[in-house]
Amino acid sequence: MTERAYALDDIIRKHLRLKSYSKRNPETIIEKGNLPLENNCPESAAYFRGASNSITQALELLNAYDNDAALRIIDQALGENPKMTGLHYGRAIALARLGRTVEAVDALKLLLSESPQHEKACTLLEEIAADPTTNLIKEADTAFHSKEFHRAFKLINKAKSMKHPAQDIDYIRAKCFLELNEPGAAREALKEELRYHPSNDKAKMLLDRIRSEHTQMASVKIRSAEFQELYQIVMPYTMLSEDRLYSLFAIAKRVCLKNISGNIVECGVAAGGSTALLAAVVRKYSRIPRKIYAFDSFQGMPEPTERDRHDGRTAEESGWGEGTCSAREDSLMEICRKLNVQDLVIPVKGYFEKTLPASQVEIGAIALLHMDGDWYESTRSVLNCLYSSIQRDGFIQVDDYGFWEGCRDAVHEFEMQHGIKFAMNKIDGTGVWFVKPEGHASYEIETA
Ligand SMILES: C[S@@+](CC[C@H](N)C(=O)[O-])C[C@H]1O[C@@H](n2cnc3c(N)ncnc32)[C@H](O)[C@@H]1O
Repeated sequence: MTERAYALDDIIRKHLRLKSYSKRNPETIIEKGNLPLENNCPESAAYFRGASNSITQALELLNAYDNDAALRIIDQALGENPKMTGLHYGRAIALARLGRTVEAVDALKLLLSESPQHEKACTLLEEIAADPTTNLIKEADTAFHSKEFHRAFKLINKAKSMKHPAQDIDYIRAKCFLELNEPGAAREALKEELRYHPSNDKAKMLLDRIRSEHTQMASVKIRSAEFQELYQIVMPYTMLSEDRLYSLFAIAKRVCLKNISGNIVECGVAAGGSTALLAAVVRKYSRIPRKIYAFDSFQGMPEPTERDRHDGRTAEESGWGEGTCSAREDSLMEICRKLNVQDLVIPVKGYFEKTLPASQVEIGAIALLHMDGDWYESTRSVLNCLYSSIQRDGFIQVDDYGFWEGCRDAVHEFEMQHGIKFAMNKIDGTGVWFVKPEGHASYEIETA
């Protein structure tokens, strides 16, 4: 969990009290006082036993941290009897723990409208409502509805920089992208939302809508059956275009078939799709043992600087600030397991500026470097630290060269500082690849 999430969890824990205490006293979480308690009526008594079971079950699940299951039970009980307003307290706790703080606030408000004397609900509401992420999401939603999309982006990015993946942040971000006619970016934002909140139905529906309305995004361009087989598996785990992924695939295959020695390094992993694809090629084609080093904060992008601009707009105004592109390390390992390549991948968590210098010796020679860190500072750090380790005839692919001005500047500054010129090959409007100049590009990359 992130620091912010821990802080919120402390608040909730305070309200849950100790596990054993809560177990003996379910009503400390979900007030029994709100149940219909006409005990001399047998139907009510049976009903109460059923409700009491739900409460006990929900409580056990909350104590076991199975918040999804607790929420399901509570929602079911509330569906059967909406009068059990006391259940909204447990519901709010589950929702807040799941990062759905806006809904948690709504649940507590509902409870307090029926039971204004519910002191614990009052305190919890004050504490959750004071959570800056909750307020930023609300403000961003208001900005979205007032069609102030760039302002909404700024607010969302502020919320994302708190590294507390609250529900709906990326959903609102996606809606802004769509309004600005950027369906590809909207799709990526929704994938990010669903990585953290897989049960967000609004996000699922919007993603389905985008996919059905923009079928060209899913149309297959590359005819290589071997690539397509891999691509279909890694697609949900990557932000890369089909062309850029294919370029990586073809370069990695060439590295293996030409037996260029060295490891493969990826700086900028996110959910792990491109890393796993590289590892799958190594598994199939490498004649020598190689590893794939996967560097990422696994907490999303670091803070951008003024240099990180797209079409003249800052990163934040463009919807891509600190904390965006985030995915947990688990996601990388999940896709690696699907391709059975987990033994080839070495994840290195942390910011490049620290992790790269510390790993340089261990990595040794590099045959292929995939630079996918977007920002000026990130690109600069990677080049400064790893360029000298790239083998003669080794390859470099820069994912964001055509998109982010800062990334492009960092590459050009490096060329100037070292008196070299990279012979760039354009992949699509965004990515480029080149061979380390000393080795010169003596062969063509396989075309589809
Ligand atoms: C565009 S995403 C990578 C996409 C990925 N290759 C894929 O297949 O979808 C950029 C990633 O770079 C990481 N990143 C950028 N700058 C970084 C830095 N200085 N240190 C660590 N990670 C960084 C971010 O955390 C983010 O996950």
